[in-house]
Amino acid sequence: MADPRPIGVFDSGVGGLTVARALMDLLPDERVIYLGDTARGPYGPRTVEEVRAFTADDVGWLAEQDVKFVIAACNTATAAALELDPLTFDLPVLGVIEPAVETAIRVTRSRRIGVIGTQVTISSGAYDRAVERLGSVDTKLTSAACPRFVTLVEQGRTTDPEVLEVAEEYLAPMKAAQVDTLILGCTHYPLLTGVISYVMGPDVTLVSSAETCARAVFAHLVDADLLAHTQTPQHRFAATGDPTDFARLAERFLGPRIRDADVEPA
Ligand code: SIN
Repeated sequence: MADPRPIGVFDSGVGGLTVARALMDLLPDERVIYLGDTARGPYGPRTVEEVRAFTADDVGWLAEQDVKFVIAACNTATAAALELDPLTFDLPVLGVIEPAVETAIRVTRSRRIGVIGTQVTISSGAYDRAVERLGSVDTKLTSAACPRFVTLVEQGRTTDPEVLEVAEEYLAPMKAAQVDTLILGCTHYPLLTGVISYVMGPDVTLVSSAETCARAVFAHLVDADLLAHTQTPQHRFAATGDPTDFARLAERFLGPRIRDADVEPA
């Protein structure tokens, strides 16, 4: 039985648009309603209690839009409200941590995995617990909080020399631990794939929580027979803060939309 209702996606701001983008690529007939809590994000520097309360608000707003389920497209919210002492909701809420860990465990050859994320995500130990739950006893996880990455991405800075310097510093423990697989445990980090991959080298596989989450949603919808078949779905985007700032940054995360194409003779 198809379910034409939209999929709800929320994040502390614009980072979760990397998840929305991966979803739209994999499931072009699904309608997405996105909420960015830009007035209160980023969540990384907040307390666990604050993040849990914000998550409850975000899920509540999406439930009012009659979505079929919600994706917490934010590692910090997933860690604080879904992995650690999970909150209960009236509709299914999927997080981004478990799909990323499952993929990392599948692709690692050396069983040395790294994860980088916000302060709340890393200090919550949510990734450590997921690796313990899903991995084998000899899987070793090295984690590091990279708080400045979010600020840089939100400033639209993903390639300049300071970004490279910060990446060298943050990723030094990953190189020292000789991880062969690195989870980008924050939805802002896929925008830093270029610099992270450059610093870590070509032998390290980067696992994006955006892509792995989208693949898990695809499998869930197919297995539960809940796919929508909406022709050219009209997505909706909402922000709790300034909508103009949101729209400006959103293009970077969601990808530029082609409004006019030049006509060139063949
Ligand atoms: C944040 O809210 O600070 C970043 C988003 C994330 O953790 O994925």
